Amino acid sequence: MSFDLVLFGGTGDLAWRKLMPALFQAFRHGSLPKDGRIVGVARDDLSDDQYRELIQSRFNAVEGAKRPSAEEFEKFASLLHYLRMDLSKPADYARLSDLLKQRNADTVVMYVATAPALFTQVVEQIAAAGLNGPSTRVVLEKPLGHDLASNRAINAAVCKVLDEKQVFRIDHYLGKPSVQNLFAMRFGNALFEPIWRREHIANIQITIAEDLGVEKRGAFYDQTGALRDMVQNHALQLVCAIGMEPPINSHADAIRDEKLKVLRALKPWTPETLGLHAIRGQYTAGTAYGERVPGYKDEPGVDPESRTETFVALRTEIANWRWAGVPLYIRTGKRLASRDARIEVNFRPTPHAIYRAPAGAVNKLVINLQPRDGLELHMLAQAQDNRRSNGHQSAAQLAPVQLDLDFDKRFGAERVGAYERLLLDVIDGRLNLFVRSDEQEEAWRWVEPLIDSWASDGGPRPYAAGTWGPSASSAMIARDGFSWSEEQ
Ligand code: BG6
Repeated sequence: MSFDLVLFGGTGDLAWRKLMPALFQAFRHGSLPKDGRIVGVARDDLSDDQYRELIQSRFNAVEGAKRPSAEEFEKFASLLHYLRMDLSKPADYARLSDLLKQRNADTVVMYVATAPALFTQVVEQIAAAGLNGPSTRVVLEKPLGHDLASNRAINAAVCKVLDEKQVFRIDHYLGKPSVQNLFAMRFGNALFEPIWRREHIANIQITIAEDLGVEKRGAFYDQTGALRDMVQNHALQLVCAIGMEPPINSHADAIRDEKLKVLRALKPWTPETLGLHAIRGQYTAGTAYGERVPGYKDEPGVDPESRTETFVALRTEIANWRWAGVPLYIRTGKRLASRDARIEVNFRPTPHAIYRAPAGAVNKLVINLQPRDGLELHMLAQAQDNRRSNGHQSAAQLAPVQLDLDFDKRFGAERVGAYERLLLDVIDGRLNLFVRSDEQEEAWRWVEPLIDSWASDGGPRPYAAGTWGPSASSAMIARDGFSWSEEQ
């Protein structure tokens, strides 16, 4: 099979941080179809060779084992090409068309990794140049819009010229090995299904914590904030993976139909819950990696008066028969105490206690996404040091133990990173791990009351860099009698 992958935004941050390394890994693993071209598109005036040199120099920032040797890069570089384009000029799409017609590849992937404001224009121009035929697949990066109306406008423009089957809305969290394993664990094993419900589960916590600040993306981030950057997409996709009913088969639409139902079942916000169950914060100066770091307002590109949130904690519920009454907590933020992304499913305690157990110890399933991926099942087991007290055998003491499935150790070298997995899926035309337009709209619909109410309230609460966010986040969960995992 032959393919052409056109990378709009070919010199941008995403291209060199994520996409090129992922394409190289796929090449190295031998999973990228041999007969392929990767065409970087940007405004700079570069030759193919200069583009290859630029990409090679960027690879120096890639972590050791994933960096190509000179010999490997030379082979990979033969796939790389470059086309200078002004994305507003129809004549430049005609040049792109000429380039693509040289080969008429079986599959043409148009990866739109540009500023979101250009998405509609690029898609319309692709169609105007007649490049939207059945062999074309278009990949759209997030964020797709900044609210429900703008998301609908983009989707309407896209759906006018492309069939939904040609549109790959990417959410790289769906490509993470742990998320795929969450699906496998739930729908490939019978073990958890009977207890995956309100009768057995006390609460669910989703944490996506980053220790980094906004880095060089201050200007973008300041227009976006944690709700749009992480909650509307990544966190809500995790909610779907945890909460959805078993799909009738593994086809993309069967999966997406079930995810959509979860998003539709999320409890709508009320004035009361907006006040009590939605906390947002913004980091101030603090400590990260043992060093003083500046506050958000002092980051380059950020408005010194900014009201943008860098932390969000929410409490919600999936209002259906399986989940009614089970609190679902979502928390994400920048400059938190550690890089830690995980989903915790906390089970209910035993109905009657005959053992002594540490306070608060319950069964818990943890799906670790970051920094390592794996599954942990927390149980209680008989401690081996039972003492006799006053000549009597004391009530047996239980101690917490863990069953660990470390995917790094178990699957090591065979594992495929999120972008690598998703890029290969696009080339192969598999839509399972991509987001359908109605899902995306439903997610925007749910976050919209937060956007509206935050536009005019007192602003985000401050928290020091290197902590777990504003104390209101712990107070929110404590009102239900629970605590975040690092406080347990
Ligand atoms: C991106 C966000 O989608 O996800 C970034 O725009 C964030 O702000 C990143 O840092 C986190 O991804 P990961 O895979 O490092 O958890």
